[in-house]
Amino acid sequence: MSTNNAELAERFVKEHLSGYDSGHDWWHIARVRDMAVHIHEAERKGNKTIIEFGALMHDLGDSKFKKKDDPDPGEVISEFLNGLGIDNEQITEVIRINRYISFSSREKNSKMSDEFMIVQDADRLDAIGAIGIARAFSYGGFRNNPIYIPDEILSGSSRSTTGHFHDKLLKLKDMMNTATGRKIAEDRHKILEKFLEQFFNEWYFKNTV
Ligand code: ADP
Ligand code: NI
Repeated sequence: MSTNNAELAERFVKEHLSGYDSGHDWWHIARVRDMAVHIHEAERKGNKTIIEFGALMHDLGDSKFKKKDDPDPGEVISEFLNGLGIDNEQITEVIRINRYISFSSREKNSKMSDEFMIVQDADRLDAIGAIGIARAFSYGGFRNNPIYIPDEILSGSSRSTTGHFHDKLLKLKDMMNTATGRKIAEDRHKILEKFLEQFFNEWYFKNTV
């Protein structure tokens, strides 16, 4: 990606992210882009331009933050990338990444491209490890969710943020698409387990002197 296109894309993405919580801010996007490029280089797979644009635009129009009259993210992305002179096939793939990346829509995407798998791994890696923990509590705070509900039945859509660890975060390491992603996920997964263990030790006075 040329420096000029990179700058224009950054500006475009920053404009479209206002209103999201701090776990979905520009720095999340920048981390996902950098991790996606890292995986791309380690795996030697995928087209770098699609990966970079796909990572930069993966959260545009996220349904969690969507307002009623917001335009379709595919149209917004298409218009912007057309303006940069990106070819149609690449634009289509960037839009597919945006549309199908989220955890809940994974079933709808039967044929995954290398670019899709790499950006999805990078996004999922940012949801685990120390940063993942910080983001989960940031999002929980944004929604005013309790940090923990002792008698909560874990249903897959928990109200508490520790419940969200079980609903989603602890499952991510086994959902990685690439070998590089899987390797990075292992360490980050251990941090989640350690964190939960300590959290419950403190909550239930275990090992307390
Ligand atoms: P993705 O779009 O990557 O599939 P989400 O947008 O659902 O995933 O999640 C992005 C970030 O917000 C992650 O760090 C995730 O842990 C956090 N998050 C999403 N839902 C919740 C929730 N109910 N409680 C706490 N954190 C959440
Ligand atoms: Ni994301």
